[in-house]
Amino acid sequence: MGEQAKREIEAAGGLGVRTERRGAIAIWTIDRPERLNALSRAAVRELGRLAREAAGDRTLRAVVLTGAGDKAFCAGADLKERRSMDEEDVRDFLPLYRASFGAIDRLGVPVIAALDGVAFGGGLELALACDLRVAASHVTLGLTETSLGIIPGAGGTQRLTRIVGEARAKELVLFARRVDAAEALALGIVNRVAPEGTRALDFALAWAEPLTRAAPIAIAAALEAIDGAGDRALDDGLSLEARCYERTLASEDRLEALAAFAEKRAPSFKGR
Ligand code: COA
Repeated sequence: MGEQAKREIEAAGGLGVRTERRGAIAIWTIDRPERLNALSRAAVRELGRLAREAAGDRTLRAVVLTGAGDKAFCAGADLKERRSMDEEDVRDFLPLYRASFGAIDRLGVPVIAALDGVAFGGGLELALACDLRVAASHVTLGLTETSLGIIPGAGGTQRLTRIVGEARAKELVLFARRVDAAEALALGIVNRVAPEGTRALDFALAWAEPLTRAAPIAIAAALEAIDGAGDRALDDGLSLEARCYERTLASEDRLEALAAFAEKRAPSFKGR
């Protein structure tokens, strides 16, 4: 670890992210409740490190990313830390955001954001970098950056637009609108709202369970093909799909699925 990273961890009072493993599912918890789980530089760096490490873990089948407590998933950039940063520092921070959120986005294992509290600014951008989102029924969320005189700088303008379309993205960003869970569901920003009284984390863990039995090569290939869809003309997208399909074709898991079907039993996938 470099000297700068050490200084950042010390200044932020710790890494700000804790991890737990439940079988094939990892839980990453942003753990800075006194700042509503706002993102320090140290926490952003750590999330990127965890994603890069997870990419090499062949026993991992899903990640659930959440925030400590019921008040916030993540209240965005750490605005207290930000006050100690000059223009140059903030400019330098953006590539770190991009790298860490990109590592989460590109992780070939499904990442589910479980929102048990608010997600504003960078907090929502982080959730948007995940593959799927589950919200507790009481949460509100929004890309609120323009109310702070900036714009989303960790991928929000690009990822939100891909999810909800240009007109809705403009409305949400220009008005710095905060939407409740029901509206977020209607807009497609979250995939599921947990029933009242159920934690989004518990819902997400139960939801992720079938993924622990799914064929890992197929899941990774599907993620890559779908993630690539937004950036391409149809023909390019179809070529990407064909390349991703090819990886599944060469897998033992495909043959296992065919054998299991013939033998009327559940397949046992190995990720080979
Ligand atoms: N960065 C650093 N600290 C933050 C924070 C952030 N983004 N958001 C909240 N906190 C801190 C508050 O300063 C407060 O600490 P204090 O008691 O030492 O003053 C603590 O977390 C609790 O927040 P508070 O504002 O008192 O809670 P609330 O329930 O009244 O309001 C929010 C919650 C999320 C609505 C409000 O904190 C807020 O609007 N935060 C900024 C969200 C935002 O716009 N983020 C985008 C950043 S780009």
